[in-house]
Amino acid sequence: MTSLNLTLPDDWHIHLRDEAALSTTVPDVARWAGRAIVMPNLTPPVLSVADALNYRERILAHVPEGNSFEPLMTLYLTDHTTQTMVSDAAASPFVHGIKLYPAGATTNSDAGVTALEALYPVLEAMQNHDVPLLIHGEVTDPRCDIFDREKAFIDSALVPLTTQFPALRVVFEHITTRDAVQFVEAAGEHVAATVTAHHLLYNRNDLLVGGVKPHLFCLPVLKRDQHQLALRKAVTSGSPRFFLGTDSAPHTRDDKESSCGCAGCYTAHAALALYAEVFDEEGALDRLEAFASFHGPDFYRLPRNTTSVTLSKTPQAIPSEFQLGTDVLIPIRAGESVGWTVALAS
Ligand code: NCD
Ligand code: ZN
Repeated sequence: MTSLNLTLPDDWHIHLRDEAALSTTVPDVARWAGRAIVMPNLTPPVLSVADALNYRERILAHVPEGNSFEPLMTLYLTDHTTQTMVSDAAASPFVHGIKLYPAGATTNSDAGVTALEALYPVLEAMQNHDVPLLIHGEVTDPRCDIFDREKAFIDSALVPLTTQFPALRVVFEHITTRDAVQFVEAAGEHVAATVTAHHLLYNRNDLLVGGVKPHLFCLPVLKRDQHQLALRKAVTSGSPRFFLGTDSAPHTRDDKESSCGCAGCYTAHAALALYAEVFDEEGALDRLEAFASFHGPDFYRLPRNTTSVTLSKTPQAIPSEFQLGTDVLIPIRAGESVGWTVALAS
């Protein structure tokens, strides 16, 4: 049996939601990650350091006994974010970034940014205070094809932004295209990207051939296989500019299996095992630890974790559903299996 010992990973992009959902989402990620960058797109969003600290307490209340999982908090950038809010964030040991959602780009992004250039003074403050900017990189122009929205965002927003603020640390979140890989590779050392397990494992054929699979619908949407292959190459390249971010996003079964199904895939229950499948298929298991456990903390300037996890190449069955409050959630691989199993070292 193949088995692998890794420094405990972190998840650099996750949605935990709030209230009853936390009793599912928090234990799921705490089973394989030491820390996670927690997205602020609640309703209402996490706008201030005070909001983030309250949310952090609600999350911590759901960390299983004896587990030292730590949520790393983020604020939601809006048209009304001020330079003072940035300096407050920089002064907090619990806030690790500010998230830019173009208004209307994705789930709970209505409060997002409508005119990025109007926020340049705020971005300048972020650069000065060295607060990372986390970006959902898609344009929202209704005339832009949904499969081209990431590339259009690179050209129209990311290139000007990174030119204007060369020292601003930017995480291009959940990248999905070869264009994004090339942009990150060519950008300076202050630009990095997270990559999800589902964008490595699936492409738009998995989403659409033989019928629509609502539980594989997320934003940015899955792309064609040549983009999936570029992502696989990037994460297994050893480049420190790519790191693990699941974008695990819980939605109820009813919200997903609807005439207007919402965006988000749930992977927190088995994320590390899913990434291991990819690295194994690519013959790059020796590169998994750096991607999962080193590149993220190095970029965020946090210490690497000091404990470890053991992965074994033993298939695990995935339940057909999980409880999500009073509803149910259909996870990735529901009713199927994942080729690896994770055990937290004590
Ligand atoms: C995320 C969610 O559900 O909050 N959905 C998704 O499809 N990824 C939001 C996001 O990260 O875009
Ligand atoms: Zn997300």
